[in-house]
Amino acid sequence: MDPKEKIIFALDVERFEEAQQLVMELRDHVGMFKVGKQLFTHCGPKIVDFIKLKNSKVFLDLKYHDIPNTVSKAAVEAAKLGVDLLNVHASGGFSMMNQAKQALVEAGKNPDLHRPKIIAVTVLTSLDDGELKKVGFDIPVIELTKKLALLAKEAGLDGVVAGGSEIEMIRETCGRDFLIITPGVRIEDKKDDQKRTITPKEAIQKGASYIVLGRAVRDAADPGALLKKIAEDIRDALSL
Ligand code: C5P
Repeated sequence: MDPKEKIIFALDVERFEEAQQLVMELRDHVGMFKVGKQLFTHCGPKIVDFIKLKNSKVFLDLKYHDIPNTVSKAAVEAAKLGVDLLNVHASGGFSMMNQAKQALVEAGKNPDLHRPKIIAVTVLTSLDDGELKKVGFDIPVIELTKKLALLAKEAGLDGVVAGGSEIEMIRETCGRDFLIITPGVRIEDKKDDQKRTITPKEAIQKGASYIVLGRAVRDAADPGALLKKIAEDIRDALSL
């Protein structure tokens, strides 16, 4: 496998033109582009169309959280757009996750539609034990993360988003075929607003399936060269 396939670049920009430029500049160095709430709300499906037209993959990071019927229908619309990966909040519950997965399997029977993978966000990294308690969850973050990852697996989801410190626990709990997508990846000691960070090599060694990189790459003097170096580090991690 080409190590660059494990790199997801977060297109965290507002304007279509900026996103287009980043896609053109980085598409040979990454496996997938992540389109989040800001860019999708501003541009709509045309940004997904553009990335697909350039033969790259799309992770639509809209973190759906609603009643099962609504999330299932949104997931099928995302599949129709041609995205390769999409996500929901595991706290939306078993039925919501399971019905969304079933709806995608059903939609995938259409030969013109490629079924995207569906993963779950367990506990947002912006929440700590105190914040969780305030919204009525009297359980430590780590325990809730484990519980929700298992629930996502039982509901048939393909994987979860997990911070660097959770990779090993989730790999152990959910098995080797479960996808683990890890954001909060930093090259050096520059953390921005991420509290817990991990390097690309460490993340892959611990068992991450994909790493998400945003600012560390965008702000680099030569993003292409940096991504080549990261791909080499990933190759090393995979061959250890
Ligand atoms: O720029 P940076 O590498 O921090 O970007 C990380 C990306 O991953 C952002 O798009 C952010 O929304 C997303 N993300 C995250 N932490 C999570 C889940 C998603 O940073 N726990």
